[in-house]
Amino acid sequence: MHAQTTQNHPTRPLSGRTAVIIGGTSGIGRAVASRVVAAGGAVILGGRSQDALDAELARIEAAGGAACGHVVDMAERESVAAFFARIARLDYLFAPGATYQVASIHSDDHEAVESPFRSKFWGQYHAVHEAAPKIAPDGAIVLMSGAAGARPIKGASAYAACNAAIEGLGRSLALDLAPVRVNSVSPGTIDSDLWQRRSAELRSHAFESYSRSTALGRVGSVDEVADAVLFLFGNGYMTGSTLFVDGGYVLP
Ligand SMILES: NC(=O)c1ccc[n+]([C@@H]2O[C@H](COP(=O)([O-])OP(=O)(O)OC[C@H]3O[C@@H](n4cnc5c(N)ncnc54)[C@H](OP(=O)(O)O)[C@@H]3O)[C@@H](O)[C@H]2O)c1
Repeated sequence: MHAQTTQNHPTRPLSGRTAVIIGGTSGIGRAVASRVVAAGGAVILGGRSQDALDAELARIEAAGGAACGHVVDMAERESVAAFFARIARLDYLFAPGATYQVASIHSDDHEAVESPFRSKFWGQYHAVHEAAPKIAPDGAIVLMSGAAGARPIKGASAYAACNAAIEGLGRSLALDLAPVRVNSVSPGTIDSDLWQRRSAELRSHAFESYSRSTALGRVGSVDEVADAVLFLFGNGYMTGSTLFVDGGYVLP
């Protein structure tokens, strides 16, 4: 047993390995893809827009990286299955691509209320289901959660529950899929493209309010989340955990 532990390198190199990143054309997913490529890995990107995929693939290829990509909608199980049918093997999976609304318990808009589970929870569940037979035994899966799962905000109960469910799923999958490692990353508010597309007024209100709620007094960057994802890809003894990249938001 001792010989086995000493043979295991603490960090698996990314060079020559393939990471599937659904939601890799923007924000946190794109930051992760850039890190993988910079470390010598190849990426297979997913997203709903062919134009966005083409632009990102051209950017990576112009920088000398190896990449391909396919259209996929994480809210549609058949679409996720068709995406993975085109992939023979992979080493890493990160699938943060999701679109959902945040609605309160008093809302009668059931489409909106159920959307976080449909897109973010079931999307990642189906992605893992499809990836599991093709992922390398020393590979890793990182699930995307969110800090609301550990410290809810008022009026977003289904969204908060969805993130808590994703972290529970990660712990459970760590048992089911071992030796493949499964962990979750739980960011606080991150200044990503998602926020840059919103109005300056809404963004500044949200960022100020979030900053007041954290130990570090600021929002995070996509690179800070990408660091955590790359760590969870590479560390050979991390499984079933959640890393909170939130500036101390979940502290009491
Ligand atoms: N930013 C934050 O403050 C924050 C905080 C906590 C958690 N998160 C989590 O991180 C995820 C990504 O956030 P981000 O800030 O990086 O967002 P972003 O910049 O808007 O990027 C979202 C990416 O996902 C893709 N996507 C969106 N819906 C999809 C779907 N249904 N199927 C497949 N791909 C889809 C988008 O491409 P297409 O539009 O072309 O599909 C894009 O590549 C969020 O969904 C959220 O769960 C974010």
